[in-house]
Amino acid sequence: MYPRRPMASDRAPIAVIGTGYVGLVTAAGFAQLGNEVWCVDIDAEKIARLERGEVPIFEPGLAECVMANRERLHFTTELVPALEHARLLFVAVGTPPTYSGDADLSAVNAVVDALPASDRHALVMKSTVPVGTGAAIRRTFDSQGKQQFAYVSCPEFLREGSALEDFLHPDRVVVGDDGNWAGDAVVDLYAPLGAPLVRTDVRSAEMIKLAANAFLATKISFINEISNVCEETGADVVEVARGMGLDKRIGPSFLKAGLGYGGSCFPKDVSALKQLAGNSGYHFQLLTSVIEVNELQKRRVMAKLQKHLGSLVGRTVALLGLAFKPQTDDMREASSLVLAARLQADGAKVRAYDPVAEEVARSLLVGVDFAPGALDALSDVDACVVVTEWPEFVDLDWDEVARRMRGRLVVDGRNCLDRDGVTAAGLIYEGMGRGNRA
Ligand SMILES: NC(=O)c1ccc[n+]([C@@H]2O[C@H](COP(=O)([O-])OP(=O)(O)OC[C@H]3O[C@@H](n4cnc5c(N)ncnc54)[C@H](O)[C@@H]3O)[C@@H](O)[C@H]2O)c1
Repeated sequence: MYPRRPMASDRAPIAVIGTGYVGLVTAAGFAQLGNEVWCVDIDAEKIARLERGEVPIFEPGLAECVMANRERLHFTTELVPALEHARLLFVAVGTPPTYSGDADLSAVNAVVDALPASDRHALVMKSTVPVGTGAAIRRTFDSQGKQQFAYVSCPEFLREGSALEDFLHPDRVVVGDDGNWAGDAVVDLYAPLGAPLVRTDVRSAEMIKLAANAFLATKISFINEISNVCEETGADVVEVARGMGLDKRIGPSFLKAGLGYGGSCFPKDVSALKQLAGNSGYHFQLLTSVIEVNELQKRRVMAKLQKHLGSLVGRTVALLGLAFKPQTDDMREASSLVLAARLQADGAKVRAYDPVAEEVARSLLVGVDFAPGALDALSDVDACVVVTEWPEFVDLDWDEVARRMRGRLVVDGRNCLDRDGVTAAGLIYEGMGRGNRA
Protein backbone atom coordinates (compact mmCIF):
# COMPACT_ATOMS: atom_id res chain seq x y z
CA MET A 1 0.00 0.00 0.00
CA TYR A 2 2.89 2.34 0.80
CA PRO A 3 5.78 1.47 -1.50
CA ARG A 4 8.93 3.13 -0.29
CA ARG A 5 9.94 6.07 -2.40
CA PRO A 6 13.49 6.25 -3.74
CA MET A 7 15.84 8.16 -1.47
CA ALA A 8 15.60 11.86 -2.21
CA SER A 9 19.01 13.30 -1.46
CA ASP A 10 17.63 16.81 -0.88
CA ARG A 11 15.34 15.64 1.93
CA ALA A 12 16.97 16.60 5.23
CA PRO A 13 16.87 14.26 8.23
CA ILE A 14 14.41 15.30 10.92
CA ALA A 15 13.65 14.24 14.48
CA VAL A 16 10.26 13.56 16.04
CA ILE A 17 10.09 13.66 19.83
CA GLY A 18 7.12 11.68 21.15
CA THR A 19 6.05 8.67 19.07
CA GLY A 20 2.33 8.49 19.87
CA TYR A 21 -0.56 8.92 17.44
CA VAL A 22 0.76 12.21 16.04
CA GLY A 23 4.50 11.58 16.36
CA LEU A 24 4.56 8.14 14.79
CA VAL A 25 2.27 9.16 11.94
CA THR A 26 4.38 12.28 11.32
CA ALA A 27 7.55 10.19 11.37
CA ALA A 28 6.14 7.55 9.02
CA GLY A 29 4.70 10.22 6.72
CA PHE A 30 7.99 12.09 6.39
CA ALA A 31 9.86 8.80 5.93
CA GLN A 32 7.42 8.08 3.11
CA LEU A 33 8.35 11.44 1.59
CA GLY A 34 12.02 10.43 1.69
CA ASN A 35 13.30 11.87 4.98
CA GLU A 36 15.45 9.98 7.44
CA VAL A 37 13.53 10.32 10.71
CA TRP A 38 14.93 9.98 14.22
CA CYS A 39 12.10 9.07 16.57
CA VAL A 40 12.64 9.76 20.27
CA ASP A 41 10.39 8.65 23.12
CA ILE A 42 10.87 8.28 26.87
CA ASP A 43 8.76 5.12 26.81
CA ALA A 44 11.51 2.49 26.47
CA GLU A 45 9.03 -0.33 25.94
CA LYS A 46 7.36 1.53 23.07
CA ILE A 47 10.73 2.20 21.45
CA ALA A 48 11.73 -1.47 21.88
CA ARG A 49 8.51 -2.58 20.16
CA LEU A 50 9.03 -0.11 17.33
CA GLU A 51 12.60 -1.31 16.90
CA ARG A 52 11.25 -4.86 16.56
CA GLY A 53 8.94 -3.61 13.81
CA GLU A 54 5.79 -3.65 15.97
CA VAL A 55 3.46 -0.67 15.73
CA PRO A 56 1.92 -0.18 19.18
CA ILE A 57 -1.23 1.67 18.05
CA PHE A 58 -3.95 0.84 15.56
CA GLU A 59 -4.15 3.31 12.70
CA PRO A 60 -5.10 2.24 9.15
CA GLY A 61 -2.04 1.86 6.91
CA LEU A 62 0.43 2.92 9.60
CA ALA A 63 2.03 -0.49 10.21
CA GLU A 64 2.49 -0.97 6.45
CA CYS A 65 3.98 2.50 6.06
CA VAL A 66 6.38 2.00 8.98
CA MET A 67 7.40 -1.37 7.54
CA ALA A 68 7.88 0.01 4.01
CA ASN A 69 10.12 2.79 5.32
CA ARG A 70 11.95 0.91 8.05
CA GLU A 71 15.40 1.82 6.80
CA ARG A 72 14.63 5.52 7.17
CA LEU A 73 13.06 5.27 10.62
CA HIS A 74 15.36 5.20 13.65
CA PHE A 75 13.94 4.66 17.12
CA THR A 76 15.72 5.75 20.28
CA THR A 77 15.14 6.88 23.85
CA GLU A 78 18.07 9.30 23.57
CA LEU A 79 17.95 12.87 22.28
CA VAL A 80 21.65 12.94 21.39
CA PRO A 81 21.58 10.85 18.18
CA ALA A 82 18.53 12.79 17.00
CA LEU A 83 20.33 16.10 17.61
CA GLU A 84 23.39 14.85 15.78
CA HIS A 85 21.45 13.97 12.65
CA ALA A 86 18.55 16.42 12.50
CA ARG A 87 18.15 20.17 12.70
CA LEU A 88 14.34 20.26 12.86
CA LEU A 89 13.02 18.64 16.03
CA PHE A 90 9.26 18.04 15.80
CA VAL A 91 7.75 17.83 19.29
CA ALA A 92 4.63 15.64 19.47
CA VAL A 93 4.40 14.82 23.17
CA GLY A 94 1.06 14.71 24.97
CA THR A 95 -0.60 17.83 26.38
CA PRO A 96 -3.41 16.29 28.46
CA PRO A 97 -5.81 18.37 30.55
CA THR A 98 -5.05 19.23 34.15
CA TYR A 99 -7.82 19.16 36.78
CA SER A 100 -8.55 22.81 36.01
CA GLY A 101 -8.99 22.09 32.29
CA ASP A 102 -5.80 23.94 31.36
CA ALA A 103 -3.32 22.08 29.15
CA ASP A 104 -0.66 20.18 31.08
CA LEU A 105 2.62 21.27 29.48
CA SER A 106 4.93 19.25 31.69
CA ALA A 107 5.98 16.88 28.87
CA VAL A 108 6.61 19.83 26.54
CA ASN A 109 8.62 21.58 29.24
CA ALA A 110 10.65 18.42 29.92
CA VAL A 111 11.68 18.39 26.25
CA VAL A 112 12.51 22.12 26.29
CA ASP A 113 14.67 21.69 29.40
CA ALA A 114 16.48 18.68 27.91
CA LEU A 115 17.56 20.52 24.76
CA PRO A 116 21.12 21.86 24.69
CA ALA A 117 22.11 25.34 23.52
CA SER A 118 22.41 25.34 19.73
CA ASP A 119 22.35 27.73 16.81
CA ARG A 120 21.59 25.03 14.26
CA HIS A 121 18.46 23.42 15.71
CA ALA A 122 14.78 24.36 15.81
CA LEU A 123 11.97 23.11 17.99
CA VAL A 124 8.92 22.59 15.76
CA MET A 125 5.82 22.36 17.95
CA LYS A 126 3.30 19.74 16.72
CA SER A 127 1.67 19.27 20.11
CA THR A 128 -1.47 21.30 20.66
CA VAL A 129 -0.56 24.05 23.11
CA PRO A 130 -2.22 27.20 24.50
CA VAL A 131 -1.64 30.50 22.75
CA GLY A 132 1.46 32.04 24.28
CA THR A 133 3.33 28.75 24.71
CA GLY A 134 5.80 29.62 21.96
CA ALA A 135 6.51 32.95 23.65
CA ALA A 136 6.93 31.22 27.02
CA ILE A 137 9.35 28.69 25.52
CA ARG A 138 11.27 31.55 23.91
CA ARG A 139 11.66 33.10 27.39
CA THR A 140 12.78 29.76 28.82
CA PHE A 141 15.33 29.35 26.04
CA ASP A 142 16.62 32.86 26.77
CA SER A 143 16.89 32.19 30.50
CA GLN A 144 18.73 28.91 29.85
CA GLY A 145 21.28 30.47 27.49
CA LYS A 146 19.67 28.89 24.41
CA GLN A 147 18.85 32.15 22.63
CA GLN A 148 19.90 30.74 19.26
CA PHE A 149 17.47 27.81 19.39
CA ALA A 150 14.81 28.52 16.73
CA TYR A 151 11.10 27.95 17.35
CA VAL A 152 8.30 27.14 14.91
CA SER A 153 4.65 26.38 15.57
CA CYS A 154 3.31 23.75 13.17
CA PRO A 155 0.02 22.48 14.60
CA GLU A 156 -1.31 19.10 13.50
CA PHE A 157 -4.83 18.56 12.16
CA LEU A 158 -4.82 14.83 11.42
CA ARG A 159 -7.78 12.74 12.53
CA GLU A 160 -7.27 9.39 14.20
CA GLY A 161 -8.70 6.68 11.98
CA SER A 162 -7.40 8.35 8.83
CA ALA A 163 -4.25 9.91 10.28
CA LEU A 164 -1.77 8.85 7.64
CA GLU A 165 -4.01 9.88 4.77
CA ASP A 166 -4.61 13.20 6.52
CA PHE A 167 -0.87 13.69 6.95
CA LEU A 168 -0.20 12.98 3.28
CA HIS A 169 -3.20 14.99 2.03
CA PRO A 170 -3.71 17.86 4.49
CA ASP A 171 -6.33 20.56 3.90
CA ARG A 172 -3.64 23.06 4.81
CA VAL A 173 -0.26 23.34 6.47
CA VAL A 174 0.08 26.02 9.15
CA VAL A 175 3.53 27.37 9.93
CA GLY A 176 3.91 30.02 12.62
CA ASP A 177 7.34 31.54 13.07
CA ASP A 178 9.25 34.76 13.41
CA GLY A 179 10.72 34.67 9.93
CA ASN A 180 13.97 32.78 10.46
CA TRP A 181 15.59 29.82 8.66
CA ALA A 182 13.53 27.27 10.56
CA GLY A 183 10.15 28.45 9.28
CA ASP A 184 11.46 28.28 5.71
CA ALA A 185 12.82 24.78 6.36
CA VAL A 186 9.47 23.55 7.66
CA VAL A 187 7.70 25.05 4.65
CA ASP A 188 10.18 23.27 2.32
CA LEU A 189 9.66 20.01 4.18
CA TYR A 190 5.90 20.07 3.56
CA ALA A 191 6.17 21.43 0.00
CA PRO A 192 5.85 18.02 -1.75
CA LEU A 193 2.36 17.62 -0.26
CA GLY A 194 1.15 20.61 -2.31
CA ALA A 195 -1.23 21.75 0.43
CA PRO A 196 -2.34 25.37 0.88
CA LEU A 197 0.09 27.08 3.25
CA VAL A 198 -0.84 29.43 6.05
CA ARG A 199 2.40 31.15 7.07
CA THR A 200 1.78 33.32 10.05
CA ASP A 201 3.07 34.37 13.46
CA VAL A 202 3.45 31.85 16.30
CA ARG A 203 0.48 33.03 18.38
CA SER A 204 -1.91 32.95 15.42
CA ALA A 205 -0.74 29.44 14.48
CA GLU A 206 -1.38 28.29 18.03
CA MET A 207 -4.86 29.85 17.97
CA ILE A 208 -5.75 28.35 14.56
CA LYS A 209 -5.47 24.85 16.01
CA LEU A 210 -7.53 25.58 19.14
CA ALA A 211 -10.16 27.56 17.24
CA ALA A 212 -10.54 24.86 14.56
CA ASN A 213 -11.15 22.13 17.14
CA ALA A 214 -13.47 24.33 19.18
CA PHE A 215 -15.49 25.14 16.06
CA LEU A 216 -15.86 21.47 15.10
CA ALA A 217 -16.87 20.55 18.64
CA THR A 218 -19.40 23.40 18.57
CA LYS A 219 -20.88 22.02 15.35
CA ILE A 220 -21.28 18.61 16.99
CA SER A 221 -22.90 20.01 20.12
CA PHE A 222 -25.15 22.19 17.95
CA ILE A 223 -26.51 19.25 15.93
CA ASN A 224 -26.89 17.24 19.13
CA GLU A 225 -29.05 19.98 20.62
CA ILE A 226 -31.06 20.07 17.39
CA SER A 227 -31.46 16.29 17.65
CA ASN A 228 -32.80 16.64 21.17
CA VAL A 229 -35.35 19.18 19.97
CA CYS A 230 -36.18 16.80 17.09
CA GLU A 231 -37.03 14.16 19.68
CA GLU A 232 -39.44 16.58 21.33
CA THR A 233 -41.04 17.70 18.09
CA GLY A 234 -41.07 14.57 15.94
CA ALA A 235 -38.58 15.77 13.31
CA ASP A 236 -35.78 13.49 12.10
CA VAL A 237 -32.32 14.97 12.71
CA VAL A 238 -30.80 12.92 9.87
CA GLU A 239 -33.15 14.65 7.42
CA VAL A 240 -32.58 18.00 9.10
CA ALA A 241 -28.78 17.63 8.92
CA ARG A 242 -28.99 16.63 5.24
CA GLY A 243 -31.07 19.68 4.47
CA MET A 244 -28.76 21.94 6.44
CA GLY A 245 -25.53 20.44 5.14
CA LEU A 246 -26.37 21.02 1.48
CA ASP A 247 -26.13 24.74 2.24
CA LYS A 248 -22.59 25.60 1.14
CA ARG A 249 -22.30 28.08 4.00
CA ILE A 250 -22.83 25.22 6.47
CA GLY A 251 -21.47 22.05 4.82
CA PRO A 252 -22.33 18.46 5.78
CA SER A 253 -19.37 17.49 7.96
CA PHE A 254 -19.65 17.34 11.73
CA LEU A 255 -23.44 17.43 11.53
CA LYS A 256 -23.97 13.86 12.74
CA ALA A 257 -26.05 13.70 15.88
CA GLY A 258 -25.03 11.02 18.34
CA LEU A 259 -23.51 10.33 21.72
CA GLY A 260 -21.24 13.35 21.63
CA TYR A 261 -17.60 13.85 20.85
CA GLY A 262 -14.71 12.18 22.67
CA GLY A 263 -11.10 11.36 21.99
CA SER A 264 -7.84 12.85 23.03
CA CYS A 265 -8.34 16.21 21.32
CA PHE A 266 -11.79 17.82 21.27
CA PRO A 267 -12.57 17.53 25.00
CA LYS A 268 -9.19 18.77 26.14
CA ASP A 269 -8.71 21.40 23.43
CA VAL A 270 -12.15 22.93 23.95
CA SER A 271 -11.54 23.01 27.66
CA ALA A 272 -8.02 24.43 27.17
CA LEU A 273 -9.37 27.25 24.97
CA LYS A 274 -12.09 28.02 27.50
CA GLN A 275 -9.50 28.18 30.29
CA LEU A 276 -7.12 30.19 28.12
CA ALA A 277 -9.87 32.74 27.55
CA GLY A 278 -10.72 32.73 31.25
CA ASN A 279 -7.09 33.22 32.26
CA SER A 280 -6.99 36.22 29.93
CA GLY A 281 -10.10 37.69 31.57
CA TYR A 282 -12.67 36.64 28.96
CA HIS A 283 -15.58 34.32 29.72
CA PHE A 284 -16.05 32.10 26.64
CA GLN A 285 -19.73 31.42 27.25
CA LEU A 286 -20.36 29.46 24.06
CA LEU A 287 -17.70 26.86 24.85
CA THR A 288 -19.11 26.34 28.34
CA SER A 289 -22.36 25.27 26.69
CA VAL A 290 -20.59 23.14 24.09
CA ILE A 291 -18.91 21.17 26.88
CA GLU A 292 -22.08 20.83 28.94
CA VAL A 293 -24.18 19.68 25.98
CA ASN A 294 -21.57 17.07 25.18
CA GLU A 295 -21.52 15.70 28.72
CA LEU A 296 -25.32 15.43 28.87
CA GLN A 297 -25.49 13.86 25.42
CA LYS A 298 -23.52 10.77 26.50
CA ARG A 299 -26.08 10.18 29.23
CA ARG A 300 -29.21 10.46 27.07
CA VAL A 301 -28.94 6.78 26.21
CA MET A 302 -29.77 5.94 29.83
CA ALA A 303 -33.21 7.55 29.50
CA LYS A 304 -33.85 5.63 26.27
CA LEU A 305 -32.99 2.35 27.95
CA GLN A 306 -35.14 3.13 30.99
CA LYS A 307 -38.06 4.16 28.77
CA HIS A 308 -38.21 0.64 27.33
CA LEU A 309 -36.79 -1.54 30.12
CA GLY A 310 -37.85 0.31 33.26
CA SER A 311 -35.31 -0.42 36.00
CA LEU A 312 -31.94 -1.56 34.70
CA VAL A 313 -31.16 -3.64 37.78
CA GLY A 314 -30.16 -7.13 36.68
CA ARG A 315 -30.50 -6.29 32.99
CA THR A 316 -27.69 -7.05 30.55
CA VAL A 317 -26.82 -4.37 28.02
CA ALA A 318 -24.39 -4.86 25.13
CA LEU A 319 -22.16 -2.00 24.08
CA LEU A 320 -21.14 -2.32 20.43
CA GLY A 321 -17.95 -0.33 19.95
CA LEU A 322 -15.78 1.13 22.71
CA ALA A 323 -13.22 3.35 20.95
CA PHE A 324 -14.10 7.02 20.73
CA LYS A 325 -14.57 6.63 17.00
CA PRO A 326 -14.17 3.92 14.34
CA GLN A 327 -10.81 2.88 12.90
CA THR A 328 -8.89 3.60 16.09
CA ASP A 329 -8.13 1.84 19.37
CA ASP A 330 -7.97 5.17 21.21
CA MET A 331 -10.22 5.09 24.28
CA ARG A 332 -9.38 8.55 25.61
CA GLU A 333 -12.62 10.32 26.64
CA ALA A 334 -14.67 7.67 24.81
CA SER A 335 -18.43 7.83 25.41
CA SER A 336 -18.31 4.11 26.22
CA LEU A 337 -16.45 4.89 29.46
CA VAL A 338 -19.27 7.08 30.74
CA LEU A 339 -21.97 4.73 29.51
CA ALA A 340 -20.45 1.60 31.04
CA ALA A 341 -20.04 3.35 34.38
CA ARG A 342 -23.60 4.73 34.32
CA LEU A 343 -25.06 1.33 33.41
CA GLN A 344 -23.15 -0.42 36.19
CA ALA A 345 -24.16 2.28 38.67
CA ASP A 346 -27.81 1.59 37.76
CA GLY A 347 -27.36 -2.13 38.42
CA ALA A 348 -27.00 -3.39 34.82
CA LYS A 349 -24.46 -5.91 33.59
CA VAL A 350 -22.37 -4.68 30.67
CA ARG A 351 -21.23 -6.85 27.79
CA ALA A 352 -18.91 -5.17 25.29
CA TYR A 353 -17.24 -5.72 21.96
CA ASP A 354 -14.87 -3.60 19.90
CA PRO A 355 -12.96 -4.85 16.84
CA VAL A 356 -9.64 -3.27 17.89
CA ALA A 357 -9.91 -1.43 21.22
CA GLU A 358 -10.43 -4.39 23.56
CA GLU A 359 -6.84 -4.55 24.78
CA VAL A 360 -6.85 -0.87 25.76
CA ALA A 361 -10.43 -1.04 27.05
CA ARG A 362 -9.79 -3.96 29.40
CA SER A 363 -7.61 -1.81 31.64
CA LEU A 364 -10.23 0.96 31.75
CA LEU A 365 -13.55 -0.88 32.03
CA VAL A 366 -13.67 -2.81 35.29
CA GLY A 367 -16.35 -5.47 35.67
CA VAL A 368 -17.29 -5.46 31.98
CA ASP A 369 -17.69 -8.79 30.18
CA PHE A 370 -15.81 -8.70 26.85
CA ALA A 371 -17.15 -10.71 23.92
CA PRO A 372 -15.04 -11.97 21.00
CA GLY A 373 -17.49 -10.76 18.34
CA ALA A 374 -20.57 -8.60 17.85
CA LEU A 375 -23.03 -11.51 17.69
CA ASP A 376 -21.47 -13.07 20.80
CA ALA A 377 -21.91 -9.75 22.60
CA LEU A 378 -25.59 -9.71 21.66
CA SER A 379 -26.53 -13.20 22.86
CA ASP A 380 -29.18 -13.07 25.62
CA VAL A 381 -28.91 -9.32 26.22
CA ASP A 382 -31.90 -7.17 27.08
CA ALA A 383 -30.76 -4.28 24.90
CA CYS A 384 -27.84 -3.16 22.81
CA VAL A 385 -26.32 0.25 22.24
CA VAL A 386 -24.19 1.11 19.21
CA VAL A 387 -21.55 3.36 20.72
CA THR A 388 -18.99 3.43 17.89
CA GLU A 389 -20.05 3.29 14.25
CA TRP A 390 -17.76 0.48 13.10
CA PRO A 391 -18.82 -0.72 9.61
CA GLU A 392 -19.31 -4.27 10.87
CA PHE A 393 -22.19 -3.11 13.08
CA VAL A 394 -23.87 -1.39 10.16
CA ASP A 395 -23.68 -4.69 8.24
CA LEU A 396 -25.07 -6.92 11.01
CA ASP A 397 -27.66 -9.55 10.08
CA TRP A 398 -30.57 -8.20 12.14
CA ASP A 399 -32.64 -11.38 11.84
CA GLU A 400 -29.76 -13.25 13.47
CA VAL A 401 -29.42 -10.47 16.06
CA ALA A 402 -33.13 -10.77 16.87
CA ARG A 403 -32.76 -14.52 17.35
CA ARG A 404 -29.83 -14.02 19.74
CA MET A 405 -31.11 -11.13 21.86
CA ARG A 406 -33.37 -11.75 24.83
CA GLY A 407 -34.85 -8.26 24.62
CA ARG A 408 -35.87 -6.22 21.56
CA LEU A 409 -34.27 -2.83 22.05
CA VAL A 410 -31.51 -1.51 19.76
CA VAL A 411 -30.25 1.97 20.62
CA ASP A 412 -28.38 3.45 17.66
CA GLY A 413 -26.16 5.94 19.45
CA ARG A 414 -24.57 7.03 16.17
CA ASN A 415 -27.56 6.98 13.81
CA CYS A 416 -25.58 4.64 11.59
CA LEU A 417 -27.92 1.64 11.30
CA ASP A 418 -30.57 0.91 8.71
CA ARG A 419 -33.66 1.65 10.79
CA ASP A 420 -35.94 -0.33 8.46
CA GLY A 421 -33.65 -3.37 8.56
CA VAL A 422 -33.64 -3.34 12.36
CA THR A 423 -37.41 -2.97 12.71
CA ALA A 424 -38.11 -5.52 9.94
CA ALA A 425 -36.34 -8.07 12.15
CA GLY A 426 -38.89 -7.38 14.88
CA LEU A 427 -36.54 -5.23 16.95
CA ILE A 428 -37.27 -1.81 18.44
CA TYR A 429 -35.10 0.94 16.97
CA GLU A 430 -34.18 4.00 19.04
CA GLY A 431 -31.90 6.49 17.33
CA MET A 432 -30.68 9.89 18.43
CA GLY A 433 -33.17 12.57 17.39
CA ARG A 434 -34.88 10.37 14.79
CA GLY A 435 -38.37 11.65 15.60
CA ASN A 436 -41.41 9.57 14.75
CA ARG A 437 -42.55 8.43 11.34
CA ALA A 438 -46.24 9.02 11.77
N1 LIG B 1 -4.20 12.26 18.60
C1 LIG B 1 -4.69 13.13 17.71
O1 LIG B 1 -5.61 12.86 16.93
C2 LIG B 1 -4.07 14.52 17.63
C3 LIG B 1 -4.35 15.31 16.50
C4 LIG B 1 -3.77 16.58 16.43
C5 LIG B 1 -2.96 17.03 17.47
N2 LIG B 1 -2.74 16.25 18.56
C6 LIG B 1 -1.86 16.74 19.61
O2 LIG B 1 -0.60 16.12 19.45
C7 LIG B 1 0.01 15.90 20.74
C8 LIG B 1 0.33 14.43 20.91
O3 LIG B 1 -0.88 13.71 20.88
P1 LIG B 1 -0.89 12.11 20.73
O4 LIG B 1 -2.30 11.71 20.62
O5 LIG B 1 0.09 11.72 19.69
O6 LIG B 1 -0.30 11.71 22.17
P2 LIG B 1 0.20 10.28 22.65
O7 LIG B 1 -0.09 10.21 24.10
O8 LIG B 1 -0.33 9.21 21.75
O9 LIG B 1 1.78 10.32 22.43
C9 LIG B 1 2.64 11.13 23.17
C10 LIG B 1 4.00 10.43 23.22
O10 LIG B 1 4.95 11.34 23.79
C11 LIG B 1 5.83 10.57 24.61
N3 LIG B 1 6.51 11.46 25.53
C12 LIG B 1 6.03 12.06 26.65
N4 LIG B 1 7.00 12.82 27.22
C13 LIG B 1 8.10 12.72 26.43
C14 LIG B 1 9.41 13.29 26.47
N5 LIG B 1 9.75 14.12 27.44
N6 LIG B 1 10.28 12.96 25.51
C15 LIG B 1 9.92 12.10 24.52
N7 LIG B 1 8.70 11.55 24.42
C16 LIG B 1 7.79 11.85 25.36
C17 LIG B 1 4.92 9.54 25.25
O11 LIG B 1 5.66 8.45 25.77
C18 LIG B 1 4.02 9.17 24.07
O12 LIG B 1 4.56 8.09 23.33
C19 LIG B 1 -1.00 16.43 21.76
O13 LIG B 1 -0.68 17.75 22.08
C20 LIG B 1 -2.31 16.38 21.01
O14 LIG B 1 -3.24 17.33 21.48
C21 LIG B 1 -3.26 14.99 18.65
